[in-house]
This record gives sequence, structure tokens and C-alpha cells, in this order.
Amino acid sequence: MLYNLSEVTKTRVSRGVAFHLSIPSLHIATGEKIALIAESGCGKSTLLDLLALISQPTTSGYFNFHPQGIDETVDISKQWGGSGFDRISDLRKHHIGYVMQAGGLLPFLTVKENINLSREVLGLPEDGTALKLARKLHISSHLKKLPDALSLGERQRVAICRALAHNPAVVIADEPTASLDPFSADAVMKMFVELVEELDTTLIVASHSWQYVKKFGLRRLSHHSQRLPGTRTMHTTISG
Ligand SMILES: Nc1ncnc2c1ncn2[C@@H]1O[C@H](COP(=O)(O)OP(=O)(O)OP(=O)(O)O)[C@@H](O)[C@H]1O
Ligand SMILES: [Mg+2]
Repeated sequence: MLYNLSEVTKTRVSRGVAFHLSIPSLHIATGEKIALIAESGCGKSTLLDLLALISQPTTSGYFNFHPQGIDETVDISKQWGGSGFDRISDLRKHHIGYVMQAGGLLPFLTVKENINLSREVLGLPEDGTALKLARKLHISSHLKKLPDALSLGERQRVAICRALAHNPAVVIADEPTASLDPFSADAVMKMFVELVEELDTTLIVASHSWQYVKKFGLRRLSHHSQRLPGTRTMHTTISG
């Protein structure tokens, strides 16, 4: 099991408005393709930040993470704080690829340098991976350009390549096609899923597009959101 979470919560408060995410239980096996399809503001990015080991849970029963290639299951909730930070950062760098909601490309690096960033951080050699991925996603003619000179769809594809370039156990994608027209969104998602299957990577994707679930054979997480009566607190429960 790649992720095995029990009784994990995350609370965010800003100017008296609270958001509370509760994850009673969540199991994601290696190689699964998972979708979280839900409306804006209900906590998709909050969940993905937790799974990407970027954000610390507020409370946690356990938060087990076990990517292939490491000997033992790590309870991430016991690693936050103190020397565990290094362990978390190491797990994140090696085993997780993240396609962030806003793309997150560095504007001063070329497409090729952006794609290679996740490899460089790990000290991996230049071995043609960037070109191979760029070919798969039909952006190989843009490798020398800066992100500024690309269309939104092309930038999304660069972000996908970058998230996969270090061959992580899991790629987490936050609305990777949100800024595209429906036709391009479909095409990019198709290429993305094909690549993930080819590389044998676990996929976790947040989206507003219900049709992806059926079209690409994704397993949907269940979610339920409600405003607590008489309060300014939104409460979302996600499990699966
Ligand atoms: N840094 C923060 N501090 C306080 N509250 C936050 C913070 N970031 C997000 N929130 C709140 O947490 C809730 C969930 O936000 P989140 O970004 O996870 O939603 P989302 O489902 O990803 O939305 P979208 O589809 O618009 O991206 C929202 O009500 C938001 O206002
Ligand atoms: Mg979001």
C-alpha cells in the first residue's frame, strides 16, 4: 500500500473563517489511478498538499507512506518536526512528482531545464529523459524556449514532464488541465494517463471534470462538504 491514512485532519483558519478537512481513512495502492472530483474550495489542493508531504496534518492517527524501493513503511505523522523534516524532504524529492495547480514553472529556466529540475535536485545525470518525455507529450520542439513563449497547454505539458522526470513512485496533479479548452484538456489528459501507465507510476489527480473518471478508468475518492450550521466553518470529509 502506497498510502494508508487513518483519522487525519487539517484545519486552516484565515480571518475568522475556518476550513476543516477530515480523512477518516484513505488507502491508495501502488499503481492505482485516483481522482478527486469536487467543486472549488472543498479542499482538493489541501488534500494533495498533504499527500505530497508539503503540508503537515493538524492531527493524525497514522499517515503511512510506502513507495516501492524503500524497506519500511514510514509513518509521516511521526516525522514532522525536528530531524524528521530531512526524512520527509528526502521522501518527497525521490518518490513524489507534483504538478501544481498554478503550473509552477520557473520563468528564467528553459523548458528543458525546467523538466530536468526534479532530476538535478537528486543529482541524477542528463540521460535524455527530458527529450524522451517531451516527445511523448509533443513539446520536444520547445525545449530551448522559456515558459513565457509557450501556450498554456504547452506549459501544462512541461509541468507534467517535470513531475515525471525523476521517475517518482507517485505523481500528484492538481487540476493539470484546468486552464485549457475542453478539446486540449482531453488530449493532454490522455497523453498524461498513457505516460503514467507506461512508467508504472501511481496517479492522483484533482479535477472538476467528471468525464475523466470513466474515460481514463480512474478510481474516485468520495467526498462530502457542508457548512456547519450557525458557524463560518466549512467541513469536508474525504475517504477512499
Ligand atoms: N492558506 C490558507 N489559509 C487559510 N485557509 C485556506 C488557505 N488556503 C486555502 N484555504 C481555504 O481552505 C479551503 C480549501 O481550499 P483548497 O485550496 O484546498 O480548495 P480546492 O478544492 O483546491 O479549490 P479550487 O478548486 O478552487 O482549487 C477553502 O475554503 C480555502 O479558502
Ligand atoms: Mg485547488
